[in-house]
Amino acid sequence: MLNNDNNNNNFQLVNEKNTFINIKNELSETDKPVIITSALPYANGEIHIGHISSTYLPADIFTRFLRISKQQVYHVCASDDFGTPIIIKAEKENKRPEEFVAYWNKRDIEDFSAIGISFDKFFQTSSKENQDFVQNVFDKLVINGHIYEKEVIQFYCDFDKKFLPDRYVIGICPYCKSDDQYSDLCEKCGRVPEEILDPKCGICGKPPIKKSSNHYFFKLSNFSHELKEWLNSNNNLQPDVKNYVLYWVNEGLQDWDITRDLEWGISIPLEEAKGKVFYGWFDNHLCYISTFNTLLKERFKVSGKDIWNNSIIYHFIGKDIIYHHFLFLPAIRMGINREYKLPDYIPVRGHLMLHNKKLSKSRNWYISLKDFISKFNPDFLRFYLATISPSNQDDINFDWDVFYSKINNELIDNIGNFINRTLSFTKKNFNGIVPEPCIYDQDDKNAIESIMDISKNSGKFLLNTETDKALKYILKFSNFFNQYFQKKQPWKNKDTSSTTLYISINAVRTLAILLAPFIPNSAEKIWLQLTNNKSNLWEQSWNGSSILRIEPGHRIGKNSPIFKKIEKIEIEKEKIKLGKNG
Ligand code: MF3
Ligand code: ZN
Repeated sequence: MLNNDNNNNNFQLVNEKNTFINIKNELSETDKPVIITSALPYANGEIHIGHISSTYLPADIFTRFLRISKQQVYHVCASDDFGTPIIIKAEKENKRPEEFVAYWNKRDIEDFSAIGISFDKFFQTSSKENQDFVQNVFDKLVINGHIYEKEVIQFYCDFDKKFLPDRYVIGICPYCKSDDQYSDLCEKCGRVPEEILDPKCGICGKPPIKKSSNHYFFKLSNFSHELKEWLNSNNNLQPDVKNYVLYWVNEGLQDWDITRDLEWGISIPLEEAKGKVFYGWFDNHLCYISTFNTLLKERFKVSGKDIWNNSIIYHFIGKDIIYHHFLFLPAIRMGINREYKLPDYIPVRGHLMLHNKKLSKSRNWYISLKDFISKFNPDFLRFYLATISPSNQDDINFDWDVFYSKINNELIDNIGNFINRTLSFTKKNFNGIVPEPCIYDQDDKNAIESIMDISKNSGKFLLNTETDKALKYILKFSNFFNQYFQKKQPWKNKDTSSTTLYISINAVRTLAILLAPFIPNSAEKIWLQLTNNKSNLWEQSWNGSSILRIEPGHRIGKNSPIFKKIEKIEIEKEKIKLGKNG
């Protein structure tokens, strides 16, 4: 909306329209708090670009968008500390599991913060708080009749003198017949085998023997009907995912063995279950809730339950853990009478390929986050991944050449260039003072319109977690302004240059805000150059009406190019390094 100021015929950039706050209010019916969880990384190795792309970046962009829209939002996560791979690795390093997971928990926090993944809390599944919570949920499931005991024949390695749960056993998936699969999850077809075929001990490779042990089962089959009802009635779930989850339910659900004969894990709170612990997939997703509860207690000294139940819940996950999040997790919440509500949204994203091949740590075909950001601006990774990530579970591909051209041509030549030419022109020709605009012609009016529209256009996609589409609009916007600047030729047209620059500076301001969820560090830099104000960017920009736009007479900060281009040689080095592994 344009305001026509009678006195000097100035069009003012009306601030309210030009913010995310309004967009969000316009587009979502609710003002409820939003709780965002990202799937918990196993505490047994470093975060790589695949994790970032499938889970943490989409969740973080969404979180940051809501934060600057002044929505009450909580982004929680934790390290997933239990499970056989962790014990196996800790054993190899001669470390106690506690020590081992503490190391990775700390490393995760460092790596995530280096790339600007902004959690409100990053906890541990092995925390006292989660242990208590999990045992409490188990007690309630027992009372509600959803747990039963059964003697099971377990794989046991006579050579290693150990029961061999889950990843300790490798074999052939009984469903799709893929070989080299773990006994607890087939990575090819995504199903959880009841009994793996042709088993081998994961430590020594010998065929295991069988031994009996008393285990506890969760009656997942009790919930088939309720799960179907929930899946059918929740219209926020991705339809493609929903369809095959419904197919699994119709095939018949197996009850879950939630016991493991291990020492490292949350102990089962029953006298007769001494020496047994819970299966990691019983406790890890409960840590979403216990982390949130702990955060609320720390921050506001209140219990989290009421807020959880009055919030919109998002669980961001990669497509390999659909089964657990669409069936197991909701069923357990149903089993405790929905004391904590079920998720509203479960955004599922696909895998990241590296030069069209599946990432693999063992074959060294992956890029660790730490390695990446030791060489490149972390925002470059965020930008590149955000442009190529659709809001569905299709796989995407990381390619060094595409990375190079997207950063240099789209981020820097388009966005960076517009920002830099606007700010440096203001510095040189107006002494760094935002000029008073004069007459507005049709181009100027169109430019102002586009400033008015862009937040809405990108905001509605962001609200829908369609980050790639939102970013496309922003790139179009910046491209439009490059053309506008080029056409107006302020270096020649002295009489209209003040209008051109006044509008362009406000477009830069808009870009800083729009880009903040995607490339937060760079957005902060843009803001600093623009406003010369170190204090909190968003608080400043959103409060009160007069500071919502850059007014004539405002002095901009020191300016220098926001981004530095990537050199071809840097990319060639990475490709050579990859070639050695591939
Ligand atoms: N650690 C699991 C994985 O990487 C994910 C756990 S997500 C949770 O596959 F919700 F279950 F905690
Ligand atoms: Zn399979």
